[in-house]
Amino acid sequence: VSVLVFHYTMDSPEAEYYEKFGEISGILMYKDFLEYWDDVETFPARPDDLVIATYPKSGTTWVSEIVYMIYTEGDVEKCKKDAIFNRVPYLECRKDEMLNGVRQLKEMNSPRIVKTHLPPELLPVSFWEKNCKMIYLCRNAKDVAVSYYYFFLMVTAYPDPGSFTDFVEKFMEGQVPYGSWYDHVKSWWEKRKNPQLLFIFYEDMKEDIRKEVIKLINFLDRKPSEKLVDKIINHTSFQEMKNNPSTNYTLLPEEVMNHKVSPFMRKGIAGDWKNHFTVSLNERFDVHYEQQMKESTLKFRTVI
Ligand code: A3P
Repeated sequence: VSVLVFHYTMDSPEAEYYEKFGEISGILMYKDFLEYWDDVETFPARPDDLVIATYPKSGTTWVSEIVYMIYTEGDVEKCKKDAIFNRVPYLECRKDEMLNGVRQLKEMNSPRIVKTHLPPELLPVSFWEKNCKMIYLCRNAKDVAVSYYYFFLMVTAYPDPGSFTDFVEKFMEGQVPYGSWYDHVKSWWEKRKNPQLLFIFYEDMKEDIRKEVIKLINFLDRKPSEKLVDKIINHTSFQEMKNNPSTNYTLLPEEVMNHKVSPFMRKGIAGDWKNHFTVSLNERFDVHYEQQMKESTLKFRTVI
């Protein structure tokens, strides 16, 4: 695995953008994360770890809270005791000592729930060797691009994304942290035949949350009693999670995320892209999308 950190001397918006990032195996990554990449690569998985993998902004927090509810058999009080980023540590995250995914996980009792945005090729090999269960949640590309744009604006350490159109160009080229959305979803889709992996969609959760929650409970070998399912649906609704400090990221210091610019729990809908893509941008995006996805059997429903 090769780690590359960019060094720009040019004084330009492009230079400012790339100044914050480096590369890991050709994939753009937040620079601070790369400094201790050995710790990620050599991370020792335990057989009863559960991995929640997503491309950023696909609903990671939502599915994490649902899984945490399943693990605690619907104990809302336990869920509210600590922030989601402590209960479900973010494996490759390394931002001072507070957010150090590897350390948090090593200090945690089993069974652990592990959040990651890594593509399957970069996931520490021990998770594959130990045959850990994994959930991959994906969301349609256009809504991910919109959500990522607002995330760039509110994460203090991220560079200025420019205009929405500028940002979508970067997204299409994979010039955002975690690289190409297309490659990410396609690689994880290729892994779906592994019975240890459950592949689900944000849009399905929006359409029929009961069905998806039951699917998750069954996958985790628990019993989907009506009471448990109801509790989970209520506790993890967008409004509940938006108002809940343990899930809405307001427990992070303002130096990390500025919710006044855009809240982490922003809209939580499918199809917000229609409020952001111009007709011409949408046309260009569709042509590019078709090229990127034509070889894959992964089909998203059209979100209109
Ligand atoms: P929007 O910016 O489109 O609102 P992640 O957790 O992977 O960073 O994803 C964040 C996105 O998931 C945000 O999308 C956020 O609003 C949405 N989200 C979080 N909790 C949700 C919930 N309970 N229901 C629906 N969407 C949710």
